[in-house]
Amino acid sequence: MKYIAQPQISEEEISLVSSTIRNGQFVEGKNARALEKEFAEFVGAKHAICAVNGTAALHLAMEAVNISPGAEIITPAFTFIASANSIAFVGGIPIFTEINPETYTIDAESIKNQITPQTKAILPVHIFGLPCDMKSINDLAEDNDLVVIEDACQAHGARIDGQHVGTFGEIGCFSFYATKNMISGEGGMIVTDNDDLAERMISLKNHGRGPSGGYEHHRIGYNMRLPDPLAAIGLIQLRKLPPMLEKRKRNAEEIRRTLSNFNHIEIQKIPKGYTHSHYVCAPVVDADKFSVDNVIQQLKNRNIASRRIYALGCHKQPTYLQGLKEWRWSQFVKYPDYSKVSLPNTERISENHFEIPIHPGVTPSEIELIQNALEEIFG
Ligand SMILES: Cc1ncc(COP(=O)(O)O)c(C=O)c1O
Repeated sequence: MKYIAQPQISEEEISLVSSTIRNGQFVEGKNARALEKEFAEFVGAKHAICAVNGTAALHLAMEAVNISPGAEIITPAFTFIASANSIAFVGGIPIFTEINPETYTIDAESIKNQITPQTKAILPVHIFGLPCDMKSINDLAEDNDLVVIEDACQAHGARIDGQHVGTFGEIGCFSFYATKNMISGEGGMIVTDNDDLAERMISLKNHGRGPSGGYEHHRIGYNMRLPDPLAAIGLIQLRKLPPMLEKRKRNAEEIRRTLSNFNHIEIQKIPKGYTHSHYVCAPVVDADKFSVDNVIQQLKNRNIASRRIYALGCHKQPTYLQGLKEWRWSQFVKYPDYSKVSLPNTERISENHFEIPIHPGVTPSEIELIQNALEEIFG
């Protein structure tokens, strides 16, 4: 339990990677196509498109929907920096928005208050694996003619009333980074039902090539392809995803059950009909009663890994406070003064959460150890 995350790799992944390499299959090919087909079926999307990582998936999505320089995209600050950066890559302006204090996901009312004539898109993030309120978000998008790109990088297996996240907006983006619910080491996937967007993203990630490939190029593109040995890992992981999710659920539910006995500690609220994919379990302490640093240290003293995963909201990151000075788009785009952005819910939750290991490698007896530790600390 020294680790917050631990890849669950068996002989099956090793065997397919070995044969892939033995066959000289290094660039995106057969395994990637199989992974795309099975991933599309898993989430219920028409198209699934591999990418080299989740950040590239988000970047391609922003390119595909034609975010023009200076366009505003509303997104939470309580997320991994890649969500915001994908907006900045294409000259868009991240407009950091408040989260709901109970679910930690983007707050629809706050989005509404930040829509301006410059707003082009909403980038909700299914943080920790809990779906955002996609109904309210899609209603706002429809009323204001906005595009919705879902950052589902943490949310393989998360659903609302049975519908998988990533399929509510125009585009959904997933990461297969080594800590995720399913991994390929580095890797990502984009899903969409829109044929035109799919065609653009397939081309954009492959040097602007058309369907026949070769050396004819139709648009400025990138190389964001997923190497086939990594796609091999992803393919096996996807097939193992349901039992891995079951273990995460079992672990998370046990921890949540214990935590619900304590005062002065909050757990992420799961709305009715929502399936949490339990990527991260991170309760929040009442800062008047507990020091989160002390809690993390006490867990570490018992050999239980813990940390504040996003101690700084994106609006507090040096990237957005100072780093924009040297960013190329700053010559053309007027960014807000992010030091003036105040997001009290985001700040409180960033400062006071602590992560507990719930990955599928954590055994029931280790969960019991964590439960005992939590009893000792909070009981
Ligand atoms: C919310 C979120 N967005 C984007 C990413 C970026 O994915 P990747 O690390 O695969 O580039 C991650 C994962 O690390 C993430 O958690």
